Amino acid sequence: MGPNVIAAVNGPLWKSLHHMMGPSFSPVTVKAQIPTIVEHATVFHEKLRQAVETGKPFSLVDLTTSDVISAMVLGFSLQAQNNGCSPLLEDYKTLFSLAQPYMDAWNPLTKFKLWRTMRGARKRTDAYVHKELQSKYRLYRGSDAVPTRKTARSVLDRMVVQKIEETGDAAPYLDQAFLKLVTPNLNGLLAGGQGTTADALTYTYLLLSLHPAILSRLRSEHASLFPPTLTDTTTHMLSHPHLTSSSSLPYTTAILKETLRLFPAGFTPREAPPDTSHLHFNGTSYPVAGKMVIPNQHALHFDSTHFLPDRSLEEYEPKAHRFTWRPFERGLRSCIRQEMAMEEMRTALVLTVRWFDLEPDLEGVKGKGEGKVRFSDLDEVVGDAAWQEMGLGASPRGEVWMRGWYRGELGGDGGEVGDGEE
Ligand code: HEM
Repeated sequence: MGPNVIAAVNGPLWKSLHHMMGPSFSPVTVKAQIPTIVEHATVFHEKLRQAVETGKPFSLVDLTTSDVISAMVLGFSLQAQNNGCSPLLEDYKTLFSLAQPYMDAWNPLTKFKLWRTMRGARKRTDAYVHKELQSKYRLYRGSDAVPTRKTARSVLDRMVVQKIEETGDAAPYLDQAFLKLVTPNLNGLLAGGQGTTADALTYTYLLLSLHPAILSRLRSEHASLFPPTLTDTTTHMLSHPHLTSSSSLPYTTAILKETLRLFPAGFTPREAPPDTSHLHFNGTSYPVAGKMVIPNQHALHFDSTHFLPDRSLEEYEPKAHRFTWRPFERGLRSCIRQEMAMEEMRTALVLTVRWFDLEPDLEGVKGKGEGKVRFSDLDEVVGDAAWQEMGLGASPRGEVWMRGWYRGELGGDGGEVGDGEE
């Protein structure tokens, strides 16, 4: 995404970027974004309904709530959910999908071709973001109606407002130094919002489809808080925003936590501190100078491969140590959008699971029945989707195809009862 992206910098630069971007993701801002989240989760519901009604297999990744992040970052939706994708998102996908082949390529011609395609995509994404920044600056320059950082509607707005507050608006355009600082970060947020949550939701629906008793309990939780129809549920959600919080939806939250335990959608690159040549652990020294150290959340989380959401409920015993669950990592450098991602995924579940039965479409799936590892048998059922690989985040390998049924306007039998056994 570029040299100044928040996830890749340290020290004072990280601090100032965090100061600039952090308020856009505070719990107060997240709650203020609930109407946007609900709006796009409703589009997800409609898209899902259209997809199941075709009777054909579909990929959830393309349907989920990807427009929430563009609405938050740019102040408007890229309409990727309605149109299947958007040119900007296509370019982000290109950048991510070619990064690894570019690094691996040894043939200079192949390398050059990949570089050229990536450069084209990068130029287009940068030009798009520059245009939005400059047009916002033009709008606010000399105006009496400049929002404050608190009232600004999007991350991009907030960045421009901060710039005007700090250096005034005498210049006719935003300067190159500012563009170089904020563009990679806006690109990073827009791109980061695509893979991670969509992949986590894909795994959630996949796991729910394989565990009917858990799905049934989830539906009961939703039915106990929300009315039976979609329209009434969205209205109720908007008038009672606390109902999508983790304390109101403990089982929904536990399901998402358990999915992220088994399939953490991000990872944590760390540079060795200066003057540190080795990392000592359990009597072994590992050379780290000049290297990236990546704690492997996937392995850290894998004390059991069973999908058992109860593990993270308050009353569950034995309790895992609270530091062992770290799909968003922990501490100062943890995911800036953790609260929002969880809120967005909970809302998506509340607005879909009572109305749809989904199952994986396993026809022709690669890797099925192979039983590649001893610690999990999921690949025997779902094939290669049981493994993650690098994409916009850590995505399921290959596309996960689903098919499904609409359970009716009242969510089947009111959404309350599921008949499945685990
Ligand atoms: C299920 C969804 C997500 C997961 C599991 C996830 C996970 C992570 C992880 C593991 C990190 C690294 C933390 C570290 O280095 O300690 C991270 C950082 C970050 N994430 Fe997320 N993420 C998710 C969604 C998102 C979304 C949707 C966005 C933005 C639109 C986002 C923006 C960021 C940013 C900006 C950082 C860098 C924070 C910093 O270095 O200070 N994340 N995320």
